[in-house]
This record gives sequence, structure tokens and C-alpha cells, in this order.
Amino acid sequence: MYDVVIIGGGPGGYAAALYAHNFGLNVALVEKERVGGTCLLRGCIPAKAWLKTAEVFAHAKKAADFGVQVGEPSLDWQVALDRKNGIVDGLVKGLGGLLKARKVDVISGYGRLAGGGVEVSTDSGEVRRLEARNVILATGSRPRAIPGYDFDGNRVVSSREALDWTERPNRVAIIGAGAIGSEFALILGSTGAEVHLFEMLDQVVPGSEPEAGKALAREMKKKGVNIRTGVAVGPAEVHEDRVVVPFEGDYVEVDKVLVAVGRAPVTEDIGLETTNVSVDRGFVEVDPNTMLTAEPNIYAVGDIVAGTPQLAHAGFAEGIAAITHIATGEIAPVDYRAIPLVVYTDPEVASVGLTEAEAREAGYDVEVHDHGMRGVGRAIIQGEVGGLVKIVSEKDGPILGATVVAPAAGELIHELMYAVAWEALPAEAAAYIHAHPTISEAIGETLLSAAGRSLH
Ligand code: NAI
Repeated sequence: MYDVVIIGGGPGGYAAALYAHNFGLNVALVEKERVGGTCLLRGCIPAKAWLKTAEVFAHAKKAADFGVQVGEPSLDWQVALDRKNGIVDGLVKGLGGLLKARKVDVISGYGRLAGGGVEVSTDSGEVRRLEARNVILATGSRPRAIPGYDFDGNRVVSSREALDWTERPNRVAIIGAGAIGSEFALILGSTGAEVHLFEMLDQVVPGSEPEAGKALAREMKKKGVNIRTGVAVGPAEVHEDRVVVPFEGDYVEVDKVLVAVGRAPVTEDIGLETTNVSVDRGFVEVDPNTMLTAEPNIYAVGDIVAGTPQLAHAGFAEGIAAITHIATGEIAPVDYRAIPLVVYTDPEVASVGLTEAEAREAGYDVEVHDHGMRGVGRAIIQGEVGGLVKIVSEKDGPILGATVVAPAAGELIHELMYAVAWEALPAEAAAYIHAHPTISEAIGETLLSAAGRSLH
């Protein structure tokens, strides 16, 4: 009898499995592939490996501006692909080692809820039954399709296949300019492909601050990405050697189409029908204090959870919350107010807390302060002045949210994560000194403005 059986070895599931050692719980982790889930095998990690290649290529192209002559760079796609695969393999191996060291039983096969426990169908066709005091569902998500764009693994693909392209396509249409669409637009645009990015809503990375969308779009255009926002595409015409993507009386002809319009939960064949677990359009409903479903011993974490962000780090936090409840009965809810969201484009777009529009919608009397990178010494030195900092606070009250557009904004955002989480007043946060010269100084300047006493 296991204390916990976890179905799904992605960030939500493996974090739960790893964290359980703190309480001496006896854990099985059921996974049908390698451990790591979407994030490690075909999401965050491999995408960032490709983005690093794109960044190095872009730097090499700009090297002459810095007095460094390297000639015209060329890309060895296979080397970059091998590097990406090596990084993924190394991390999968490391994770396997860690699970083993923590004495987690990793059980290979497909898991389903059955009779209060879990049944695992193995590759060899056996069915193995695991008795469990508690089950954590962590089965993740898969790319969503749209009508007229059936995935065929070749011409019309999701990020899963695009990460494993063995050569760079010359012409690509990307449908959806959310996190995945924008990151791929950068990977492909920076390395010389003709990229057409289509977004139904009125900006790239919709949902983030409009200023951030504008700043990113400007930088993307410089890298040759053709951006069309507020545009609906018609059904694709897929030919043997190309795809035609029609839109508003016009069309583009490309080699590949990447569809990145969101991800759907994977919950249809895991035995939920044998339980009282409540499901809304495929997403599992939980008590956010505990991650418990309507069943007293079945928890859910990660991308399948209804109403929470589909982010690896949200999954980690949810796995920890579920294990804490299982082991101690204590309630340790995830603080969703202050989860950073990072789009790893060039420049990166990172945010935490509420946007200006969200804060107004929530009824706050809002104050907004921003600061561009053009006057920031370090940004000028690095040749990266296209970014900005925007801080949203309540009038005479705490910081509610912030956005940073900058190289490494994904790192910089964490100081503002604390400000939001700790409900810091702008004047309190502005009292601390940022090192000079750094890009972080733009945050310090914005905080000073928000505190009513700007410097530069
Ligand atoms: P998303 O929800 O971030 O973006 C999808 C975009 O597609 C939206 O902007 C939407 O308006 C647009 N769209 C939908 N239907 C469309 C249509 N027919 N034509 C044109 N545009 C259309 O989803 P995405 O990028 O697929 O990512 C999936 C999930 O993975 C998200 O929850 C995302 O947050 C997460 N993710 C996070 C990353 C990060 O944190 N850096 C990186 C990659 C994914």
C-alpha cells in the first residue's frame, strides 16, 4: 500500500514525488514515457535551448557593431538540435537519479483510477494494480487544435514536432502569438526564416500589458517576423510541398504551419468516470487550499487543474501543496497572486500580479508608473534599449503588479514578485538601492516615480 500514487511525471507530479521525502511518505510515480513531462521533454526546456541558439546567432550577427569581426554567421541546425537533445537527456537522467535517491518507485505504464487505487497498463500488456491511500492526478495537457488545421505531423504541427525539426523551415506561419507562438517566432525569425505570426486578438502576448506587447512586436519586426494581430485565419490548404494560409482576402504560402492556440487538459481516459471528481470542460476542479478534488483522497495538480495558470512552476507549487496536505493535514495554499509569468522572447517579457487593466477591473483606484530602457546605461551598453518597466499600484497603497521587458526580464521580475507578494508600498521598495550600472536600475527608477520622487 502506497501513501501516495501519482499519475503523471511532469513538473506537478515529479515535484510532488520529490517533496514527499520530507515527510517519509511511500510514493509511486506512474509515467508512460520518460519522466519530465511536457516542460522537460517538449516544452520549457527544449524551447529555451532553441532560444539560446537563436540568441547566440543574433549576437553573432550584431558582433560587428561591437567591434568584433566574425563574418556572416551560419547555422548548423543539427548541432543545435543535438545540443537541445543533450540538455533534455541530461536533465531527464538527473531527475531519474533524484527520484531514485528519494526512493520513489517510478512505474512505467499508463495509469487509470480504479477501485480506490490505480491500475497501470504496462507496455508488455500486463495490468498492475497499485493500492493507494491517496492519489495525485498530474496528467498534464496537450496542444489544442483548431478547425481547418488538423495536426498531420508534417505540414501542420504543434510545438511538439517543431522542437524536433531536423532542419530549419524556410517559411513558417504561426497561429497564435501567446507564449509558444511568440517564442517560436523569435527562434525562427532570428535564425533567418520567413515568419508570419497570426494573432486573433489585438496584440502579441495578449493578456500582458499593451506596452509590453508593443515593445515586443517592435523588436520582433526587427528580426524579420511579420506580425498580423486582430486577424482570423481561414482553413489551411495543405499541399504536398506547401501550405496556403488564407486570411482576410489575402494569403501566405509557407512550408510549415505551427499551431499554438493553447493547451487542452489530458483527463479523458484516466478513470475519472469511476469517481465523483468534478470536471469542467476537461479541467479538474479542486479546492485551491489543498488541491483536493471532490473525492476525499484524490488530488489534482498542474495543467489539468481548472482556473489556474498552465505553468511548470505553478505545477511545482501545487504538487507541494497537495503533499503538504496529505502528509500533515495542513493547508498551505499556492499564492497565485504572485506567480511570475515569463515569455522568453528577445527581449523577454515578464510579469507578476495584476496588469493595469486587471487592477482597474478589480475595482482598484490605480496608479501606473513606467520607465523605458533608453536612458539606462547598462541597457545602452548591451545594445538592448527596446524594453521598459511598468509598475501598477493602488493609489496610496501597495504594488499590485509589474511588467518588465528586457533581456533577462525573467530573472529581474523576482524582486517585484516579492514586492507584490509582500504588498510592499512603492516608497518601501524604493528605499533600497540598485547597483549601478544594471538594467535593474530601471526598476529602481520606476519605484522612485511610484513613490512620488523620481530621480532621472
Ligand atoms: P496561449 O494561451 O498563451 O496563447 C494562445 C494564443 O493563440 C492566444 O493569444 C490566442 O488569442 C491565440 N489564438 C487562439 N485561437 C486563434 C486563432 N484561431 N487564430 C489566431 N490566434 C488564435 O497558448 P500557447 O502559447 O499555446 O501556450 C500554451 C500554454 O503553455 C499557456 O498556458 C502558456 O502560458 C504555457 N506556456 C508558457 C510558456 C512560458 O511561460 N514561457 C511557454 C510556452 C507555453
